[in-house]
Amino acid sequence: MTVRPETSRVDEPASGAGPGAAGRITRAGSTAARLAERTSGDLTGMSLIAAFGSVALDGVAREALERRTSRQGEVRLGHLGSRAFQVDALPLRGDGLLLVLHDVTSVRRVEQVRRDFIANISHELRTPLSSIKLIAETLSGGAVDDLVTARDFAGQIEREVDHLAQLVDELLELSMIESGEVQLRVEATQPREVVASVIERMRPLAERNRIRLEETPGPGGPDSTTRAAADPARLEQALVNLVHNAIKFSHPQGTVWVGWETRAGYVRFAVRDEGTGIPASHLPRIFERFYKVDRSRARSSDTVGSELRTGSAGLGLAIVRHIAEAHNGIVGVDSDEGKGSTFWVDIPIA
Ligand SMILES: Nc1ncnc2c1ncn2[C@@H]1O[C@H](COP(=O)(O)OP(=O)(O)O)[C@@H](O)[C@H]1O
Ligand SMILES: [Mg+2]
Repeated sequence: MTVRPETSRVDEPASGAGPGAAGRITRAGSTAARLAERTSGDLTGMSLIAAFGSVALDGVAREALERRTSRQGEVRLGHLGSRAFQVDALPLRGDGLLLVLHDVTSVRRVEQVRRDFIANISHELRTPLSSIKLIAETLSGGAVDDLVTARDFAGQIEREVDHLAQLVDELLELSMIESGEVQLRVEATQPREVVASVIERMRPLAERNRIRLEETPGPGGPDSTTRAAADPARLEQALVNLVHNAIKFSHPQGTVWVGWETRAGYVRFAVRDEGTGIPASHLPRIFERFYKVDRSRARSSDTVGSELRTGSAGLGLAIVRHIAEAHNGIVGVDSDEGKGSTFWVDIPIA
């Protein structure tokens, strides 16, 4: 759109001219009009502040008009509060200037995601690193001479290093799946075999934590002819992550069920527990990477053994979601705070 300096105004109506506005719009394209939620005709003659509700936009125009040089800036438009625009103000020969707005919202969003990601990783790395540093300091401060304490510390270092290794593994896994580098080997997969294999893998962990791990029998018994279009190894990984959580957030002596059923066009794999449950307000974000309901809760004494309380970076469910989506499937959760949760993965029928 083009803008003319306020001083050259002769006979426009005063409507919409903010005090000291830099200039008035002389012509606006349909895109500019859409941004202002007005018609091009309405925009003509309006001040920038009145039209776009942005003092910053007016400021960029003012500088360009006063100095007769091109100016750039970034603004958020009042009524489109969450959208970011790059403004180019280019003085026209003679009078006035040309204002061009570029929507840079998605670029800024990507940058923000990247910043958050780095902040999250740094936080997750710093926690075990600080523990290791503290232990090392205590050891060199004399504890190394006390054999019992030294052994105990060595064990702690090992656990923290395991935590770090798991974090790195999960990050690599997530970045591989997200970038689409992982090629699924989809085959007609017998749901029961996947469930049985997950239970076998997770049984030792469940037993160590005194949790019963049970199979919910699927429809059609052992001879069911239903097949899921799945990469069995990846699907198993997703279910392992869900069972891992179910055990972690169970109360002592609790039970975790793993099973499958058919839905319209899908095989639904489900993992149910009677543990802490998840407050409804957190459910919409639970599958985001690094999202955890409560950093302290997984360490509280009403859930199971300490083995599971470290190594929780909030990446497990993000991995599950990506695996499901790579299969053209979806994930979901039903949870009652205090009563337990059911997580499921729907995979298309083969
Ligand atoms: N079965 C469950 N019961 C209660 N809360 C759960 C359950 N599964 C996941 N959550 C919540 O979702 C969060 C994210 O889970 P996840 O991505 O696996 O990360 P992590 O297990 O590393 O904390 C957990 O920290 C926990 O708050
Ligand atoms: Mg987890």
